[in-house]
Amino acid sequence: MTTTTVSKISDHVGQDVELKGWCYNFRSSGKIFFLQFRDGTGRVQVVYSKGDLSEEQWEALQSIRLESSVILSGLVKEDSRAPSGFELEGRGITVVQVAEEGYPIGKKDHGPDFLLDNRHLWLRSERQWAVQRVRDQIIRSTYDWFQENGFVKFDTPVLTPTSCEGTTELFEMDYFSGEGDETKAYLAQSGQLYLEAGIMSLGRAFDFGPVFRAEKSKTRRHLTEFWMMDAEGAYVEHKENMEIQEALICRIVKDVMEKRAHELKVLERDVEALAKVQAPFPRLTHAEAVAKLRELGSDIGDKDDLGADDETILTKQYDKPIFIEKYPAEVKAFYMKRDPENEGLALNNDLLAPEGYGEIIGGSQREDDYETLMKRIAEHDLDPEPFQWYVDLRRYGSVPHSGFGYGLERIVAWVCGLHHVRETIPFPRLINRISP
Ligand code: 4AD
Ligand code: MG
Repeated sequence: MTTTTVSKISDHVGQDVELKGWCYNFRSSGKIFFLQFRDGTGRVQVVYSKGDLSEEQWEALQSIRLESSVILSGLVKEDSRAPSGFELEGRGITVVQVAEEGYPIGKKDHGPDFLLDNRHLWLRSERQWAVQRVRDQIIRSTYDWFQENGFVKFDTPVLTPTSCEGTTELFEMDYFSGEGDETKAYLAQSGQLYLEAGIMSLGRAFDFGPVFRAEKSKTRRHLTEFWMMDAEGAYVEHKENMEIQEALICRIVKDVMEKRAHELKVLERDVEALAKVQAPFPRLTHAEAVAKLRELGSDIGDKDDLGADDETILTKQYDKPIFIEKYPAEVKAFYMKRDPENEGLALNNDLLAPEGYGEIIGGSQREDDYETLMKRIAEHDLDPEPFQWYVDLRRYGSVPHSGFGYGLERIVAWVCGLHHVRETIPFPRLINRISP
C-alpha cells in the first residue's frame, strides 16, 4: 500500500492508501464512524463501517479523542460534496497516541488571550494553518522575484552597535567588556545600513530576518519582534525604487492567488479585492495625501507623519496599494536623501496597502554625499563614531542608491484579510506577551 498525503490524494482515486497525521474531529453513529483527518498538507474525512473492521480496530477507533495522532488506511473515493473533493472509505487504523482528555481548543468562541496563551496548539486550527501557508508562499515569492531580478541574498547582523530607525524603540543589552559605548549592543531594527555596504560589492541585494522594536503601544499593526525584508540597489534612484516595490508586491499577490487559493478560501478572503492589485499603483505626495486627509476630516498637520488612523481612512479610498512619497524630511530618518527640488522633503516613500491596512513598506533614496551625511548625523544627535564604517561607504566610490523594507507580518495580515498582525507570525511577541 502506498503511503501518501492528503495533498496528493487525487492521484490515488480507487486505491488503498496510508496516511499519517491527526484526528481533528470525529462523530460516531452506531455502526459508522466519521473521522476528520489532517496531516499538515490538508484535511479529509474518513468513514469507517463497523463491518469492515476487526473487533480490535473498531475498539481502537472508539478510544480516539480530539487531536489523537493516527496512521490510517482507506480507499480513496471522489466525493463532490466533501470540501476536499475526496473521502476515504476506512480500512485500518493505528492510534499512535491517544490524546489526553480535554483538548483546550474547541468549537466555542475563545477570546484572543486564551488563544494566544495556547498558541502552540492554536496553530493546528485550519485558519492558522492557512495563514502559515500563505506566509510561507509570500516568503518564497519574495526570494523568487529577487533571484529573477538580480538581487543577491545578503545576511545582515542582528546584534549591532547603532540604531537604524531612531533610538526610541531600541532593545538595548549589555555586551562584552569594552570601552564606554562598546559595552552596549542593540537588536537590529532593520538590516538596511549593512545592506548599503553589501550593494557596493554586489550591486543589488536583499536580506530577510527578524528585527526588533520596543514598541510601547498596543496596536493591530505592531509586534516587538517581526520579520523584515530589506532590499537595496546601487544606481537605483527614487523612482525606480518604487517600481521595484510595485513589481514585487504584484508578484507576491499573484502567486498567493494562484498557489494558495484554497487557503484564501479557508480564510474567507475577498479575492476580488486582491485581483485588483495590479501596476501601476497610485502615487501621491505627502502634501497631496495631507490635503486629501483633511477633506476626509483628519486634523493632520502639514509636517506630520501619517498616523495609523490617517492610513486607515486614506487607504479605504483606493482599491490598490498607494505610494505616498516625499515626506517632510524632519519626520524621517537621518539617512534619507533630500529632494533636489525641495530641500525640506525626503526622497522617500511608504507603500500603504488598501482596505484600511496601511503601511507595509518604507523606502527611500539614501544620502550619498559624505559631508551632507555627517551633517545629518549631527542634526539627529547621533554619535558619529559607530557610524564611521557607514559614512566610509560615501568616501570610496559613492553612488546614488535606494532601498526599502517590508514588514512580512503586515503583508500577511493584508493578503489574508486578518484584523491583527498577531495571527500572522507563529509565536507573536507583543508589548505584553513573550510566551509561549
Ligand atoms: O518603515 P520602516 O521603519 O523602515 C525601515 O526600517 C527601513 N530601514 C527599511 C529600509 O529602507 N530598508 O520599517 C519597514 C517596514 C514598515 O513599512 C512596516 O511594514 C514594518 O517594517 N514594521 C513593522 N511591522 C510590525 N511591527 C512593527 N513594530 C513594525 N515596524 C515596522
Ligand atoms: Mg515606516
